[in-house]
Amino acid sequence: MTDGQPTQETIQAHLTALQGLDQKHHMHPFTDPNTLKQAPPFLIDSAEGCYVSGQGIRLLDMMAGLACVNIGYGNPEMAETAAIAYKTLSYYHSFAAVSNPAVAALCGKIASLAPANFNSVFLSNSGSEANETAIKVAHMYWQLKGKKSKRVIIARDNSYHGSSIVTAALTGNKAMQEPFGIEVGQDIRHAMMPCWFRLGGDMALDEFGIKAAQSIEEQILEAGPDNVAAFIGEPIQNALGAVIPPETYWPEVQRICKKYDVLLILDEVVTGFGRAGAWFMAEEYNIKPDIITLAKGLSSAYVPIAATIVSDEIASFLEANAGVIQHGFTTSAHPVTCAIALKNIEILEREKLVERVRDHIGPYFKQRLKILESHPLVGEVRSIGLMAGIELVKDKANREQYPLEGMVCNHVSQSALMKGLIVRPAGNALILCPPFIVSEQEIDLTVQALNECLSDTYQALQQMG
Ligand SMILES: Cc1ncc(COP(=O)(O)O)c(C=O)c1O
Repeated sequence: MTDGQPTQETIQAHLTALQGLDQKHHMHPFTDPNTLKQAPPFLIDSAEGCYVSGQGIRLLDMMAGLACVNIGYGNPEMAETAAIAYKTLSYYHSFAAVSNPAVAALCGKIASLAPANFNSVFLSNSGSEANETAIKVAHMYWQLKGKKSKRVIIARDNSYHGSSIVTAALTGNKAMQEPFGIEVGQDIRHAMMPCWFRLGGDMALDEFGIKAAQSIEEQILEAGPDNVAAFIGEPIQNALGAVIPPETYWPEVQRICKKYDVLLILDEVVTGFGRAGAWFMAEEYNIKPDIITLAKGLSSAYVPIAATIVSDEIASFLEANAGVIQHGFTTSAHPVTCAIALKNIEILEREKLVERVRDHIGPYFKQRLKILESHPLVGEVRSIGLMAGIELVKDKANREQYPLEGMVCNHVSQSALMKGLIVRPAGNALILCPPFIVSEQEIDLTVQALNECLSDTYQALQQMG
């Protein structure tokens, strides 16, 4: 210590001790423990605006955490709101006929922003819980209708719906199912994802949109329409980077769900609250779902909170027939998380951040990222609002991909990290979902850095032959 301040050695020793504790005791999600044995975890200890910092390094976070810190990090109003909320009512549950002002106000606010026929809100703590709740609501609905065979849920390849048992099964990724012996193919089935770039071949976009939607119909027919409860899909799939469906896709999905009496669950965990430039993509795409799920952007991940909102038709049917919804969590509708979510929405509205994404920074992001399409390693740049996917290819002409074992995308994202930039590798795509407050200059820096990283990777690949 000098003048009461810790020395560099003390700080380093403290950091090393914490890394040791983390290595020894922290079971990380989605992380190979061997990687952690080889290198200690990177400790991020502060964040502000679009930047996260740790170990003396500051990084521009073009992923907003996990596509969730929409208003940016370290907003002082959020901290003040949290302090007041904790002092006022640190907890009470909402089981039975109890509520509190923050919960009531938040549910009212969500209903006022959601599509007009969505007025019933069930609160939980994560996107997984919101989707799990949606599936339970769908099952309950059909049980009460006397159509007890309607149990099958159809999701899509490469979707992401969460990591509980049911939502991991819905998620179109075998790596999240096989280690746990989760079986899919019967009660949970997967249709094609509407990604023209990967699956469209020589088809026109519109034609492919219909084909992708009809793969849902094929699953319904295979399972038997009397056995199918619901289809669940994200309006724009984020797991492979902004998979924006062709215009023909959602109208056809809607037609199919209606034809076979299959509920439509729209997973707006990523897109809800403005990421794609609209408060809800349901309205933007003119989708008429039965249930909508929300999480990340609801509180900008300042606290864990999620919501399942239910159409008036379903809500009034359940009310008339069900009595009790036998479902809920100790911290569902927590007064502090609700107060913080309300403040987050107030900031989004007051600062006109959704309009900023739609009218200004989203179009700028799109225009600048598009430049990367001329790079020999880039097959396609997709973006809408502040969600983007950059597809890396071996051969631009026929859209051939690199084998996943080559980890080409990881090479690019690692070299971006060396330049102080966080982007997310997902198979052969890079994902970018920056905070809504990202500046033009930060976007320019990102494009320049990514261009250099792509060239480094390309050169390395050329040398390897
Ligand atoms: C579209 C979508 N749905 C659901 C989830 C699950 O949310 P959570 O991780 O909060 O459980 C995610 C998480 O990334 C997501 O992207």
